[in-house]
Amino acid sequence: MRSHYCGSLNESHIGQVVEIAGWVHRRRDHGGVIFIDLRDREGLLQVVFDPDSRETFHIAETVRSEYVLKVAGQIRHRPAGTENPHLPSGKVELAVQSVTILNRAETPPFMIDAEDEDVSEELRLKYRYLDLRRPQMLERLKLRSRVAAVLRNYLDGQGFMDIETPMLTKATPEGARDYLVPSRTHPGSFFALPQSPQLFKQLLMVSGLDRYYQIVRCFRDEDLRADRQPEFTQLDIETSFMDEEAVMGMMEEMIRQLFAQVLEVALPSPFPRLTYAEAMRRFASDKPDLRIPLELVDLGDLMAGVEFKVFSGPANDPKGRIAALRLPKGGELTRSQIDDYTKFVAIYGAKGLAYIKVNERAKGRDGLQSPILKFLPDEVVAAVLERTAAEDGDLIFFGADKAKVVNESLGALRLKLGHDLNLVEHGWRPLWVVDFPMFEYDDKESRFVALHHPFTSPKEEHLELLSSDPGACLSRAYDMVLNGTELGGGSMRIYRKEVQQEVFHQLGIDELEAQEKFGFLLDALKFGCPPHGGLAFGLDRLVMLMSGAKSIRDVMAFPKTQSAACMLTGAPSNVDLKQLMELGVRVATQPKGEAKAAKE
Ligand code: AMO
Ligand code: AMP
Repeated sequence: MRSHYCGSLNESHIGQVVEIAGWVHRRRDHGGVIFIDLRDREGLLQVVFDPDSRETFHIAETVRSEYVLKVAGQIRHRPAGTENPHLPSGKVELAVQSVTILNRAETPPFMIDAEDEDVSEELRLKYRYLDLRRPQMLERLKLRSRVAAVLRNYLDGQGFMDIETPMLTKATPEGARDYLVPSRTHPGSFFALPQSPQLFKQLLMVSGLDRYYQIVRCFRDEDLRADRQPEFTQLDIETSFMDEEAVMGMMEEMIRQLFAQVLEVALPSPFPRLTYAEAMRRFASDKPDLRIPLELVDLGDLMAGVEFKVFSGPANDPKGRIAALRLPKGGELTRSQIDDYTKFVAIYGAKGLAYIKVNERAKGRDGLQSPILKFLPDEVVAAVLERTAAEDGDLIFFGADKAKVVNESLGALRLKLGHDLNLVEHGWRPLWVVDFPMFEYDDKESRFVALHHPFTSPKEEHLELLSSDPGACLSRAYDMVLNGTELGGGSMRIYRKEVQQEVFHQLGIDELEAQEKFGFLLDALKFGCPPHGGLAFGLDRLVMLMSGAKSIRDVMAFPKTQSAACMLTGAPSNVDLKQLMELGVRVATQPKGEAKAAKE
């Protein structure tokens, strides 16, 4: 039907007669001449209808936005002064010889040249097929496709095999709720959709496949946020006979090549590394955004002896933390801004947000302004100023509580201050976070839970701690972090049955349960399992960052809403009683829509 894409035409085609097809982006009547910007996947081309050619002109008069046209004509220079430097085809136009209306369109519910913010997301998702016509959405999907191609190409070059794993499977514990699928042939039994292919990729290593990858959909029924969706895509990778150094080296090289090829950005080589402990200490986060030049300092030793219980309590509590965050030039913050930040940290459980304004450090106490100064002796105040390297005009925030509360609140405050005060530096700051603990104590459940997942290997030199002091046992896990987003994570895996059993034991999974849930893995470990490890990247998050999109929904063709529904199709939805009967399923809670219908 066509010889060229609209957006591909330029000065090199001048004089050629071409055929194009696409959508009417805009139509302008200019006293006698009609201009149509015709749009296809590759961009826009200005099409000109001359009134002398009565037949084509008459058709052009009836055309509306989003009509689908096929046009033939000659490419010529635009008259001097009418070029559009913002369009690749902006120096040329097409002088129409013939036009066919292939299809009409109703007025769309929003303009195809609208910005993201101009249209409610609900409307965009309901009419996603129109939303995807918008050039910025198209660009994001193109970028995504390109990213996937570059990644595949790299892995293919390194000898990785693309292998598919089941979607109907048994629950794999990654810490979220499972999506379940009832089985018709086994009434009362359920498949789970995979939270990740974790165990299958490990089994592929037992099989000797050596290097596996897959771009794979994963399903997690968890609370959604801007960077989380119920179904999302991982670039999932597993290798045998490679240690963490080799895996991390190969993976960061892949990401470097990706950024170089797609964005022409040179990422550092090697990526910097932080231990989990250091990341928490300095940034109160295991995915620190290194673009924000604010750091925490610990004050536990200084505060252990002060009268002020708010500070001395956590300082003397092994699970407590007291830390300071210095905000350069923060002295300019008003009382009400500080009150707002106090409310902000309260979301994370902080009971207050003490601060010291440093007006004139040389003046000692008199140069400071603070609600807590009266509680602190001179030498402690001096030491705090020293340790935080405070300068005149700065403000120092304090967090004192259980370490978890201090980390969550000051970690979030650090990000918020960075964004509010425009402190976020430009550019890309990747890093690895390493030396994660094996376990985290879950106070609610009164037991240890895996920080990564239960198949992560402890450090060889920490094997004994596994049973003697599990909380202190470090793992062979690593996360890749970029600009404050966890892009990917993985680990060296357990490949010895006894170690796996001990980890299950520490997680409170008894032998019976271990056999029932993971018997197939424990069996496989008996038959010559090689040392192996890998990781998985969140492809959506990677593309979100690379495209500058604010949400992963903007880099997925058909995402779900925050409440895990599809606005386009109306899923999830009711099913026929007949279908339920076949599956042996009885519904205990009526779907909301039905309950309403029943009432009416
Ligand atoms: P993990 O659970 O860390 O590891 O997931 C790997 C990466 O997947 C992305 N991700 C998500 N992206 C969008 N929406 C979600 N709900 C979501 N959850 C996770 C993140 C994350 O870094 N099997 C292990 C990997 C391994 O050990 O090899 C795993 O799934 O970017
Ligand atoms: P109070 O003695 O409760 O009036 O608190 C004095 C100051 O300490 C106020 O500025 C509070 O915001 C702050 N504060 C109270 N509890 C904490 C805490 N857990 N961490 C940090 N600052 C706190």
